[in-house]
Amino acid sequence: MLELSERVKAVGFSEIVKIRNQIMELRAKGAKIFQFEGGEPFLTTPEYVKEACWKAIQNNYTRYAPSSGIPDLIDSILKKVNESNHIPAAKENIIVVNGGAQGLFGSFQSSINPGDDVIVLSPYWTPIRDIIQLCQGNIVLANIWSMFAEGVKPVLQQVLTPKTKLIYVNSPHNPAGFMYERSHLQEIADFAKENNLIIISDEAYEHITYDTEHVSIASFPGMLERTITVFTFSKSYAMTGWRIGYTIAPEPYITGLRKITLTSSNGVNTPTQWAALAAMTTQSDLLEKNVLEYKKRRDLLINGLCSLGLDCEMSKGAFYAFPNIKKFDTDSWRFSKKILDEAHVATVPGLVFGPDGESHLRFSFSTSLETIEQGLESLKKIL
Ligand SMILES: Cc1ncc(COP(=O)(O)O)c(C=O)c1O
Repeated sequence: MLELSERVKAVGFSEIVKIRNQIMELRAKGAKIFQFEGGEPFLTTPEYVKEACWKAIQNNYTRYAPSSGIPDLIDSILKKVNESNHIPAAKENIIVVNGGAQGLFGSFQSSINPGDDVIVLSPYWTPIRDIIQLCQGNIVLANIWSMFAEGVKPVLQQVLTPKTKLIYVNSPHNPAGFMYERSHLQEIADFAKENNLIIISDEAYEHITYDTEHVSIASFPGMLERTITVFTFSKSYAMTGWRIGYTIAPEPYITGLRKITLTSSNGVNTPTQWAALAAMTTQSDLLEKNVLEYKKRRDLLINGLCSLGLDCEMSKGAFYAFPNIKKFDTDSWRFSKKILDEAHVATVPGLVFGPDGESHLRFSFSTSLETIEQGLESLKKIL
């Protein structure tokens, strides 16, 4: 019998596909669906970014680029991470990759051996589980609410084993909209140093924050040496389909990332790199304006959910609300199906984000104000 490798067999496909299929079935019957299950900006890519791509194509910048990124883009990333993220990186620490996804894939591949334990602050962005499984690492969950309530260190200490190699940290957070405060990150950093651990810091939503400071853990003294930071253009510049991001890593992990990138995609397509350069260097108030738009949507959705009895903390970053559904049901798949069938409101069951996500639903508020208003009205009729 022809078989998949054991490594790949262990990995599943996105469970969000199941929800998309249910949406399609309902649509086929003529239903109007209020979609909150997505995970991308509702905005379109800025015109100046598209134009830079066109220009690159017209200039025949269409040959192989250096597989770690074109020099102009590396220079502008260096300036940005030094000045905005306060990460004391050098050019040698930077690689351009096919989105956060490839950055994370390369980071875990470069740092995890089969059988290593990886602490994942949980609930978590689901692909992380699959990326770690592909490395044959063991996922060890540390509950984020417990960390906020009991302190970071005691919770990390409980899950530490002699095989622990790494902690995955994601702030701003998908699915719950959390952001770690500087003091939380300092505790994580101290813990990593005390126990000789690596940090993978996923900062995909760094520019989508609401009156809360985004802090890069690699900016703390002595932390660049043990932190791999993953950034992407996807969310900040509404460029999800372009597949471009960058990762900052110390040796030996940057060499690992270079090898993984070289042997998988051999880098990001050249015109897209010129487009990304325009995204970073064009003077614009786009990032600030976008945050104002997201904030309007966050306030409308979360206040609306709370008034319907779906208890929900105000998200500090990213574009997700993660209400607790316990008052109605504890089974997030069942409740998500109920509101999809009865109110035509599509969400993602919290269990998709690991066992700590159960009894919650993820709503994305990256949609029109009208969809939020109508979705809430529709929910009101059934709750
Ligand atoms: C937490 C988190 N990290 C990383 C990514 C990767 O994004 P991309 O591969 O589009 O850059 C996403 C995308 O949804 C995300 O939510």
